[in-house]
Amino acid sequence: MTSQFSLKKDFPIFVTRPDLVYLDNAATSLTPSCVLKAMDDYYSSCRGTVTRGVYQISEEATSQYESVRERTAVFLNTKPEQIIFMPGTTHGLNMIASGLRDDIKPHHTIITTALNHHAHFVPWQRLVDPDHFFVCPLTDTLGIDEDFLLTHIDENTFLVALPLISNVTGGRIDAPSLTRKIKDINPRTLIVLDAAQAMLNESVTPEDYSCDFLCFSGHKMYGPTGIGVLWGKTEALSLLEPFVVGGDMITEVTTTHTTYRALPHRLEPGTPNISGVIGLGAAIDYIGNLDLSQLHNHKHGLIAYCFDELQNAFGDDITIFSDPGNITSILSFALKGIHPHDLAGYLDTHNICVRAGNHCAQPLHYEFLGIPATTRISVGAYTTRADIDFFINKTKEARMLYQKPTV
Ligand SMILES: Cc1ncc(COP(=O)(O)O)c(C=O)c1O
Repeated sequence: MTSQFSLKKDFPIFVTRPDLVYLDNAATSLTPSCVLKAMDDYYSSCRGTVTRGVYQISEEATSQYESVRERTAVFLNTKPEQIIFMPGTTHGLNMIASGLRDDIKPHHTIITTALNHHAHFVPWQRLVDPDHFFVCPLTDTLGIDEDFLLTHIDENTFLVALPLISNVTGGRIDAPSLTRKIKDINPRTLIVLDAAQAMLNESVTPEDYSCDFLCFSGHKMYGPTGIGVLWGKTEALSLLEPFVVGGDMITEVTTTHTTYRALPHRLEPGTPNISGVIGLGAAIDYIGNLDLSQLHNHKHGLIAYCFDELQNAFGDDITIFSDPGNITSILSFALKGIHPHDLAGYLDTHNICVRAGNHCAQPLHYEFLGIPATTRISVGAYTTRADIDFFINKTKEARMLYQKPTV
């Protein structure tokens, strides 16, 4: 077990850029050497395609690829055939929405929340008329208004789309309890969870929630870009009509009809992102060797510290859009006197990476928080308290520079 944080030594970017203060982990995380090595080994030693070749390197690649499915299943405490590899959370959610399109009837409703990322909002918005699409508002502490949600569930509710952790506020929802309450009202309502921000903040075991589908991206959990996972209950995955068809996912094609392979291959058309899957496997192994509760405490402690330091430094001039009682690894704020883009630009001149904008959550910013943009910081296993102190000092400096002189 690795028990020491920070883990900068595992991430070669800190050799290339020793001054980097990377506080945009909610957008994408950095990559440890073991992930780079696993992908490099694939390209240099068994660069073949999967499932089709009858020669050694292809068989080796196939066995590595399928072994990642098994390790991912162990990581999620589920079955390998419930793991579908795809390019990421966005693709997974769109795969579900497209696969269910023919099951939607005119009386059906869909419920989402103001906290959802566009990837978990737009695919659902496209499926029903605006008057059948409900967006659950927020409570004063930036949580989901459960009363609104539960009173809108009835026999017509086709699907509920929830995030496990907001990519803006960092707040986690009580998914085990909330999903159970939804199913108690209508067991046929499908529940889709976006776990993109949750994988490195809590232990994610889909069976702990009363959900039907769950998606996440490898690049937010120290894996490579372009690879992610769609998990589904077997009966839920069987509902999905493949929205991309072609090679690898068929059993028979004649001039008159086509039959598809069983899950999971039915939903993995074409040549997959083989090196990406292998890299994801290495990331899962890497995470598996960390003391996860220590990692969570480390990151959540840094954000709690940052919250207090920002509040002390700027008092009434800062609005922090995170609940101090529900802290994970993300914090967003607006500071009087400086636009988020100006702040992010200034911080960048000191090698500090933060995110500025609406973070793919326009309904949340414009219609619920009443602000077009925020500055977001999000920490990783390699973030240190010195990184946070440096960020706070440079934010103070930026504010002094940009503040309009009072006359
Ligand atoms: C909560 C959440 N959902 C979905 C996504 C989309 O993930 P990807 O771009 O990897 O598909 C993100 C990315 O920032 C996210 O934060």
